[in-house]
Amino acid sequence: DTVHVLNGPNLNLLGTREPEIYGRTTLADLEAACRDSCERHGLNLVFRQTNHEGELVTLLQQARGSLGVVLNAAAYTHTSIAIADAIKAVGLNVVEVHLSNVFAREPFRHHSYISPVARGVICGLGIDGYRLAIDALAASRNS
Ligand code: DQA
Repeated sequence: DTVHVLNGPNLNLLGTREPEIYGRTTLADLEAACRDSCERHGLNLVFRQTNHEGELVTLLQQARGSLGVVLNAAAYTHTSIAIADAIKAVGLNVVEVHLSNVFAREPFRHHSYISPVARGVICGLGIDGYRLAIDALAASRNS
């Protein structure tokens, strides 16, 4: 089984980007943590980051048939009907993840186009959220 971990805009800057909000962990560290989690569950991992909305749509389409997707669509969470449509179109099992607690931040971060089409949502737990999302997808294998 394969899990896709997809990251949206500006997450390539993790580690130096507003570290008081997003922490000092880099995208490479995050990938290593996800790879470790997947290995422990015997899952294959596809890990990607893109700054482009349409590219996220394509990556979601390419995840068709996988066990599930851990998706941090970053700012596109709050704006993108195209990403929500892709999730519905492909019938993906998505866990929406945010590093920060978006509900403790600006009101424009409180609305997500992804949440209504996601299986679950994790926010505010930093990179642990990704590990928990992978655990949830692994647990869904036999259910
Ligand atoms: C984010 C939260 C979004 O509001 C923001 O635009 C991001 C990152 C998070 O992981 O906390 O870029 O998705």
